[in-house]
Amino acid sequence: MEIFLDSSDIKEIRQLNKSNLINGITTNPSLLASVKTDFKILLKEICKEIKGPVSAEVTASNFNDMLKEAEIFKKIAKNIVIKIPLTQDGLQACHALSKKKIKTNVTLCFSPSQALLAAKAGATYISPFVGRLDDIGENGIELISDIRKIFNNYKNLKTKILAASLRTVDHVNKVAVIGADVATIPAKIFKELYKHHLTDKGIEIFSSDWKKSGMKILP
Ligand code: E4P
Repeated sequence: MEIFLDSSDIKEIRQLNKSNLINGITTNPSLLASVKTDFKILLKEICKEIKGPVSAEVTASNFNDMLKEAEIFKKIAKNIVIKIPLTQDGLQACHALSKKKIKTNVTLCFSPSQALLAAKAGATYISPFVGRLDDIGENGIELISDIRKIFNNYKNLKTKILAASLRTVDHVNKVAVIGADVATIPAKIFKELYKHHLTDKGIEIFSSDWKKSGMKILP
């Protein structure tokens, strides 16, 4: 499973990219708006730092304007992926872009049928939102599982499942077990993925036993 960072914070992205474990970035209008920098300059910096796909989301609601915004995003960098909301106009735009071999990420997906339509429209990625479904008392993880089953049923559907709105390490574990192609996660959760209390305890025990032996590995 690939790991994308859900972030528009270039400092945070540079810092975490030192891990060499970040395969791409997703942004959204809320994340971009929270950084008080020109969005084009910011996206260019992000695309320079991360060589993988960087999603930039259109804010227009009609087909023509979505395509115009996509044109502007495309000029920023080669690795930009056009993020489009799951509406009728959005899927029409997704289809038009996919015909031109432009990569797309259809976002705000909350049902298996929406994912199926996005895949039929030629989306490169579909972003089902796990946390926001959990927020309204539904089961976000089940949505990922249903979409995985549907895409496995129909091998002609090439769209990648990009599990989004992940709020916990357990969400990441579960979507990986199900077989999501990508998980996009905020920096806070990425840092937590390293951690387990038994790892810390194990290091303490090994280090104390080793000290008692008096031996040294490094000269
Ligand atoms: C993904 O593309 C979205 O930007 C993101 O995962 C939304 O997460 P949230 O529901 O925590 O805002």
